[in-house]
Amino acid sequence: MTQDEMKKAVADAALEYVESGMIVGVGTGSTANFFIDGLARLKGKIDGTVASSVASADRLKGHGIQVLDSNEAGQLPLYVDGADESNRYLHLIKGGGGALTREKIVAAASDKFVCIADESKLVDVMGKFPLPVEVIPMARSYVAREIVKLGGEPVLREGFTTDNGNVILDIHNMEIMEPVKLENALNGIVGVVTNGLFAIRPADVLLLGTPSGVDKLE
Ligand code: 5RP
Repeated sequence: MTQDEMKKAVADAALEYVESGMIVGVGTGSTANFFIDGLARLKGKIDGTVASSVASADRLKGHGIQVLDSNEAGQLPLYVDGADESNRYLHLIKGGGGALTREKIVAAASDKFVCIADESKLVDVMGKFPLPVEVIPMARSYVAREIVKLGGEPVLREGFTTDNGNVILDIHNMEIMEPVKLENALNGIVGVVTNGLFAIRPADVLLLGTPSGVDKLE
């Protein structure tokens, strides 16, 4: 199986969590795109979606799937999204596509978070994938200095602006031994909008694509 076939297999498996009348939270990225394309087949069954990025909203609308404002949709029963890394506790690193803040909002407002990923994303210790931090532009330099104090190497994502008009610092070379502690520490830096650790609110289910099929961790 190719990596794309594994992504499609987990996206199809996630469609089984979609029930009639649901408003579905929809993530961002290449794996989430497979989910969106599959969701098009079920569009008559659901009451709409909440998208975690402008890109996903555009793709959903392209399929004729209704996209609702998260403020109007209320609490969601289901959120489906990919990840850049996951450990076995379903703590995640997200934000490779820069959509971490809206992803975290949709995850927080959802009863069940189903994460879909190919097996390359499962790690023992997180941090090989640079951890994204969304920052108010004015605070970029200050936040970078604070991240250095925490032991990381922040690198500005050049030429990138988030859907919220902010910048991203990617933290390199940081082994994340205590994800909840680091998530809280980063959240506590003035000027940080959010960070890509999803440990305080981890995934509830991880559907992992392998060459022999889809593994489920929960
Ligand atoms: C976007 C994300 C994505 O979920 C993450 O980057 C995984 O993407 P892909 O499915 O393309 O590997 O967090 O901000």
